[in-house]
Amino acid sequence: MINNGHEPIDLRAALDSFDALWSPRIAARVNDYDVRVAKVAGEHIWHAHDDTDEFFLVLDGELAIALRDGEPAAAGGPGAERVVTLPKGSVFVVPRGVEHKPSSSAGASILMFEPAGTLTVGDRHDPIPAHVDATTGHGLG
Ligand code: NI
Repeated sequence: MINNGHEPIDLRAALDSFDALWSPRIAARVNDYDVRVAKVAGEHIWHAHDDTDEFFLVLDGELAIALRDGEPAAAGGPGAERVVTLPKGSVFVVPRGVEHKPSSSAGASILMFEPAGTLTVGDRHDPIPAHVDATTGHGLG
């Protein structure tokens, strides 16, 4: 259920209300966009969102995002990889179409802002392991 306009959402309490990793909860909706919060640890999977950018804000801990946005080694091949590191308080936008793989060795809490209906594993992705939830986000509580 989306709680727009009723009560303030305490993001700390929202994060404390669930334990699942890589399984975002929808805290609010802004026009056609979701504000989602998630707990993460370990590795997500390589994936890409063909039609939307994806905004990340690190609320706690540190998030790494591997990106394949460099010059490809061969024509038509994947872009060279790099990793951006986001400490608490950092924001980063993964551009649409860019293959990315979030991870956090020590664990993190993050906020994401993206169009409602965006799948966590994107439109193209590696095989999905059991610890990754392929979802468009769950309600809070
Ligand atoms: Ni993504």
